[in-house]
Amino acid sequence: MTNRVTVIGSLNVDTILEIPRLPKPGETLAMGDQSFAGGGKGSNQGIAAGRAGADTYFIGKIGDDANGKFMVKSMTDSGINVDQITITKDAKTGQAFILLDKNGQNSILVYGGANQVLSTQDVDNAKDTIAKSDFIITQFETPLEVAEAAFKVAKENNVVTILNPAPAQETIPASLLAVSDLVVPNETECQTLTGVEITDEASMIKGAEKLHAMGAKGVIITVGSKGAFYHTADGNYGFVDAFKVNAVDTTAAGDTFIGALSSQLKPDFSNLAEAIRFANRASSITVQRMGAHPSIPTLAEIEAAEKAAK
Ligand code: RIB
Repeated sequence: MTNRVTVIGSLNVDTILEIPRLPKPGETLAMGDQSFAGGGKGSNQGIAAGRAGADTYFIGKIGDDANGKFMVKSMTDSGINVDQITITKDAKTGQAFILLDKNGQNSILVYGGANQVLSTQDVDNAKDTIAKSDFIITQFETPLEVAEAAFKVAKENNVVTILNPAPAQETIPASLLAVSDLVVPNETECQTLTGVEITDEASMIKGAEKLHAMGAKGVIITVGSKGAFYHTADGNYGFVDAFKVNAVDTTAAGDTFIGALSSQLKPDFSNLAEAIRFANRASSITVQRMGAHPSIPTLAEIEAAEKAAK
C-alpha cells in the first residue's frame, strides 16, 4: 500500500557557497564555486517522501517572485501535489545561504520570508488534505502555532503526526509535543528539548523517555554518520547503523531520512527498524551529491543502492 503523506513547512531557494573554511571576523577569504538549488527543510522532506514513492501533498507559502515559481516547479517535477502552496505579496520566497566546506560540513543562514507568513488559515483551507493522509510531517521553519493547528486537525482524523524539531528552538509548547506521535530530533535538538546530553545509549534512552512523557509514542534520535536510535513508548528500542559513504555535502541528509521514512513506515510503527534502514540508505545517497533537491534519491536509486550493497 502506498502511504499518503502531507508535509507542511518551508520552501527555500538555497545558495550554496563552497568555502575552504569559515572566515574569521574582519577577514576576506576567496571562495570556490557558487550554485543554486531548491531547498528548505519542509520541501526537502516532501521531495524525499515523493521520490521514495509516497503519494505526497505539500502545504506552504511562497512570495510572488521567480524563486517561488522555481520552487513550485521543483516540487511538481517530483510529482508532489502543490495545490496548497499559496502566494503572499507580503514577503519574498524563503532563502538559505549555505557555506559548504571541503569536508562536506555546512553552516546555514536562513531568510524565513514567506515561510513565516504561513498561517492557521492555511491549515483550515487544507483540512481535507490533512484528514485524508496517513502521515503529516512538520518542522520549525514555519510558525509553531501553524504546526500545532495542523497536528490538531491530524489527530482529530487519526492521521499520524511526525515532528522534526529543527532547527533547534529553546522553547516548544507542551501542547505541540502532546499532539506529536513520532518525534525525530538530532542529538542537539534532543538535548534542547529534554535537557539530556546525548552521549551514549543510556542517554538516548533517557532522552526518549522524556519525550514519551511529553506525549510522543515514538522517538528517533538521528546521530549523523553513525545512524539512528529508535525508542517506542512500549519499550521497543535499538540502533540502526548508517551506511558508510564518502560525503561531499550533508545538506538535506536529515530531511531525506524523514521523508523516505514516511514513505515506508506503518502507522502503528511495527516496521520502525526496517523503515529506518531504508531511510538511512536514502540519506546515504543524498550526502554523496551536491545541493538539497538535486541530491535526494528516487525509489529506483534507493533500491539500486540496496541491491549493489548485497
Ligand atoms: O535541512 C537543510 C535545509 O535547511 C536547506 O535546504 C536550507 O534551505 C535550510 O532550510
